[in-house]
Amino acid sequence: MDIILKDITKSYDGQMVLKNFNWTIEENKFNFIMGESGIGKTTLINILMGIVKPDSGEIYGIEGKKLSIVFQENRLLEDFDPVTNLKLVADKDTRDEEIKTLLRELGLEDSLKKKVSQLSGGMKRRLAIGRALIARADIVIMDEPFKELDKDLYLKTIQLVKEKLKGKTVIIVTHSEEECEIFGGRKIIWKDIQERIYKKEL
Ligand SMILES: Nc1ncnc2c1ncn2[C@@H]1O[C@H](COP(=O)(O)OP(=O)(O)OP(=O)(O)O)[C@@H](O)[C@H]1O
Ligand SMILES: [Mg+2]
Repeated sequence: MDIILKDITKSYDGQMVLKNFNWTIEENKFNFIMGESGIGKTTLINILMGIVKPDSGEIYGIEGKKLSIVFQENRLLEDFDPVTNLKLVADKDTRDEEIKTLLRELGLEDSLKKKVSQLSGGMKRRLAIGRALIARADIVIMDEPFKELDKDLYLKTIQLVKEKLKGKTVIIVTHSEEECEIFGGRKIIWKDIQERIYKKEL
């Protein structure tokens, strides 16, 4: 079932962020959303996750589904190693070897036993992506997942995500046209799917 957002509206302290926002997120496809900084993309994701409640509007097709997420900021447990970080979200029957294999595929083989606090920005980002991949979710949401990755790792990580999540419902927030092209996903431009917000409403 597609996920349908219908007339979602959200303001913070009188400042309108989403106004009659309408988006159909296609089932089992890569769905990209693009829009300028501060327009409300992370707010939208928080609404999908149930972390933020919209002022009005309806969401269909998400109830009872298992979600996994790459947050805009990594939100990793810095005092624990990568394996432990993934174990905490993995199903109970997930074997350690499966976790380690994924971490190796993400190029983190030399860091399995290090504390996350000792990893570089790009390594942490790949770990945050790994955490979303290990959870057996129906819907995977990613908020600018590939930022902070240099060119070589950027392309490798994109290929890995593309391969692992093929056939799932995936929502990716991005500023990159290139990513939509590599994934061959469906791209939506924020301003095309909501009513215009006038200055007086800001
Ligand atoms: N908890 C909050 N309280 C008040 N205002 C908020 C809150 N969260 C977000 N906002 C405001 O809502 C607007 C949209 O923020 P949001 O983080 O959703 O944008 P974004 O599109 O994800 O931006 P970016 O591309 O920079 O990540 C901004 O003006 C922001 O200041
Ligand atoms: Mg954001």
